[in-house]
Amino acid sequence: MEKKDKYEMLYRQLESLLEGETDEIANMANTAALIHETFGFWWTGFYIVKDGQLVLGPFQGPVACTRIPYGKGVCGTAWEQGGSIVVPDVELFPGHIACSSLSRSEIVVPLISGDEVVGVLDIDSKELACFDETDRIWLEKIATLLIN
Ligand code: SME
Repeated sequence: MEKKDKYEMLYRQLESLLEGETDEIANMANTAALIHETFGFWWTGFYIVKDGQLVLGPFQGPVACTRIPYGKGVCGTAWEQGGSIVVPDVELFPGHIACSSLSRSEIVVPLISGDEVVGVLDIDSKELACFDETDRIWLEKIATLLIN
């Protein structure tokens, strides 16, 4: 199955999973699990803006750093810019925060409520250049579904 077809299926599943549940942590937990299981990524999870920092939220995969300052790493930069960042090779991203030395590429999509970034969705892969425009478009749709 092509990547975009997997995302289409995943999105439909997520619509019913999130329907009727208002708890954001529960919804983030199921969203991370569904994305992680569908694609077999290395790490899939959320960081939530709390007291001016990103704090680790629900995730699937190995243990990760708990706090990321504004403007730091890929996550803090996506927060600062208010836009998604696709990193084909983490070693070439200045200031990348290596929670796992096995992570080779990454995508970070901000969660935007109104005009404010309230968190980020972060996904790591053990393969180089794992993420492209298809991932960005669908993960942004998922972020919008989750927050609204
Ligand atoms: N690599 C991220 C840190 C979070 S971990 O990948 C789970 C970053 O540079 O912001």
